[in-house]
Amino acid sequence: MPALGFGTLIPDAALTITATRDALEAGFRHFDCAERYRNEREVGEALQAGLADGGIPREDIFVTTKLWNSNHRPERVESAFEGSLRRLKLNYLDLYLIHTPFAFQPGDEQDPRDQNGNVLYDQEVTLLDTWSAMESLVDNGKCRAIGLSDISLNALLPIYESSRIKPAVVQVESHPHLPETELLEFCKEKGIVLLAFAPLGHGMKPGLLEDPVITAIAARVGKTPAQVLLAWAVQRGTALLTTPKSAARARENFDISALPKDAFDEINSIRTRQRLNEVVKTGVPGFIPRGSST
Ligand SMILES: NC(=O)c1ccc[n+]([C@@H]2O[C@H](COP(=O)([O-])OP(=O)(O)OC[C@H]3O[C@@H](n4cnc5c(N)ncnc54)[C@H](OP(=O)(O)O)[C@@H]3O)[C@@H](O)[C@H]2O)c1
Repeated sequence: MPALGFGTLIPDAALTITATRDALEAGFRHFDCAERYRNEREVGEALQAGLADGGIPREDIFVTTKLWNSNHRPERVESAFEGSLRRLKLNYLDLYLIHTPFAFQPGDEQDPRDQNGNVLYDQEVTLLDTWSAMESLVDNGKCRAIGLSDISLNALLPIYESSRIKPAVVQVESHPHLPETELLEFCKEKGIVLLAFAPLGHGMKPGLLEDPVITAIAARVGKTPAQVLLAWAVQRGTALLTTPKSAARARENFDISALPKDAFDEINSIRTRQRLNEVVKTGVPGFIPRGSST
């Protein structure tokens, strides 16, 4: 799996296509998608055209997508997977993740709510039931690896211990204000890749890109704050996802290099702590507009 991943959580369809093409041209070879982003068709279109134009073989890219919460029932997993594959115009996936450990009411409504606006959870299925159906996808050869997303170490442990096929990847929010050190140590010990989302703190301002430690290091090493944050993520042994939306930013975010040891240590000693995305607590994504379903 290439450590530098391009994330496709882009609400606008046209921008999804141009940003994905720009990322491919800048050198990104790892693409993170999700059924819930409702833009797998656009990502598939951009990848197909980009691969053809650049003469890039399918095997040179790494594509992930994710099973949504309303498809956790084992009997829904294979058709959800096939739907994603079809929309992405691919005949296999490199990685399929359970998007969150929270099962929602099964069905085509991605955001099921009661009349008071409360999420309708599904109590009839366990995460292990869903994981077993994910293992069958690997068995049938259309999916090379499986993993989890938005999961805590406590929730990961029982899956790790009782699974036949171990999680290859765990995708969680991680950056200098939420380093997830304990989870990272567990992942390293077990050979699991920790795939960090929000490495730039979702670009929020004020936020990580303006953290004085980061801006001072950027000035010192002649890189941008974004490049410093991405380099730190790779240097500590995680893979990462970033979502630049212009060609210039795609080139900037791909052009990273190792930080000097003192800079790396300085970032590790930042003590600010902030979680930006509450999805890990509820299964409700923080950065996807409520409402319409596919
Ligand atoms: N599993 C989950 O629940 C989950 C949740 C969230 C995200 N994700 C995945 O992670 C991916 C990454 O998303 P993210 O929001 O976490 O990405 P991010 O790269 O941390 O943040 C993206 C934001 O940073 C800005 N940005 C990008 N490059 C920049 C640069 N060089 N300088 C300054 N600002 C820059 C962007 O601004 P512009 O918009 O102006 O370009 C955008 O606002 C998503 O696309 C998705 O695939 C997964």
